[in-house]
Amino acid sequence: MSKDDTSPYEVKSTELASEAVWHNMKISPEQRALLLQQKPCCIWLTGLSGAGKSTIANALDAVLHSQGKKSFLLDGDNLRHGLNKDLGMSEIDRAENIRRVGEVAKLLVEAGLIVVCAFISPYRRDRQMVRSIFAQGSFIEVFIDTPLNVCESRDPKGLYKKARQGILKNFTGISDPYEAPQAPELTLDTSRNSVEDSTKQILSILSL
Ligand SMILES: Nc1ncnc2c1ncn2[C@@H]1O[C@H](COP(=O)(O)OP(=O)(O)O)[C@@H](O)[C@H]1O
Ligand SMILES: [Mg+2]
Repeated sequence: MSKDDTSPYEVKSTELASEAVWHNMKISPEQRALLLQQKPCCIWLTGLSGAGKSTIANALDAVLHSQGKKSFLLDGDNLRHGLNKDLGMSEIDRAENIRRVGEVAKLLVEAGLIVVCAFISPYRRDRQMVRSIFAQGSFIEVFIDTPLNVCESRDPKGLYKKARQGILKNFTGISDPYEAPQAPELTLDTSRNSVEDSTKQILSILSL
């Protein structure tokens, strides 16, 4: 193989990230949180497409913002336009998608923000991996447990229709699995809870 055939993304053994030596930062996450006068955390909304994750995440972000909190929203669909636009929907790409956004969420939490995340994140192992990189109590998993038939009847983006027609492959709930959380901090069902009620319930379990 000539040099020109080598992918620029190929990692050489001598360039492995494990060779990097951690450089301690002068300003700690605690000092940053103190400056912003809040308790940073990651609120992770998981559930089927159409369950209401983005709707609730936006409502929650708006309430936090109106209260003067420094929050930020990470939404799966939006990040797939940029950071994760090279990833598909296979199990391995979904794992990488969640690994990346988990790391981004962690950086934002270290910067002192209250980070609201809306990702289908269908695999328990991937969500568990994200939980494991956060300090105890700063990762709040919210299961948006809206029944599949309700999500499908809403079909806000017409994706279920395409999945049923076989146009979309690897569609969670139809042709791909969704592994429900076993011990989420909170479970909501948007066929019963209004957006306002869901937002209130999430706020009630946060210690900001
Ligand atoms: N109680 C509710 N909570 C959240 N969304 C709701 C509710 N009732 C109806 N919806 C509607 O369901 C759809 C959910 O879509 P979306 O938030 O994009 O879901 P997701 O991000 O989980 O794919 C929206 O069209 C929203 O208006
Ligand atoms: Mg969404």
